[in-house]
Amino acid sequence: MSHTAKHYDFDDAGNAYRDLARDLTALLAGERDLIANAANTAALIFDALPRLNWAGFYLYKSGELVLGPFQGKPACVRIAIGKGVCGTAAQRRATVVVEDVHAFPGHIACDSASNSEIVVPLVRGGELLGVLDVDSPVHARFGAADQAGLEAIAKIFVESLS
Ligand code: SME
Repeated sequence: MSHTAKHYDFDDAGNAYRDLARDLTALLAGERDLIANAANTAALIFDALPRLNWAGFYLYKSGELVLGPFQGKPACVRIAIGKGVCGTAAQRRATVVVEDVHAFPGHIACDSASNSEIVVPLVRGGELLGVLDVDSPVHARFGAADQAGLEAIAKIFVESLS
């Protein structure tokens, strides 16, 4: 299977996310392994979306978030529920979009290149599985189309596991 960033036209973000969702569905088809599917989801997002410096997963284990498959620079390993952007999204079980991470109380700086961030919680049957975290060096990189698109991506990933 081949994927190229060129394939997606983010001048029309809604359309691009629809194409990305279709390709992710095909990429994960027939596989239920969490690590394999998280790794491929992170790779596809990082390859497809312009202006990112990090994309990946934190998985909920023994009451905290632990670093999972990702693309980008090495990152902090453990994040407490309620801490940082990731822990906040996990606690609220709602997507958190941050236009300027330096203005977000408690933001955890893993890669100094990050200026904006979106974190989507992963919930299956009421159970927290973890979060999908995407970072950008561009201020206010993520808008409504990105939130809707990445929530759809997260849903496809969660549904691939069962
Ligand atoms: N900035 C995140 C930590 C994870 S890194 O961005 C990869 C946070 O505040 O939760």
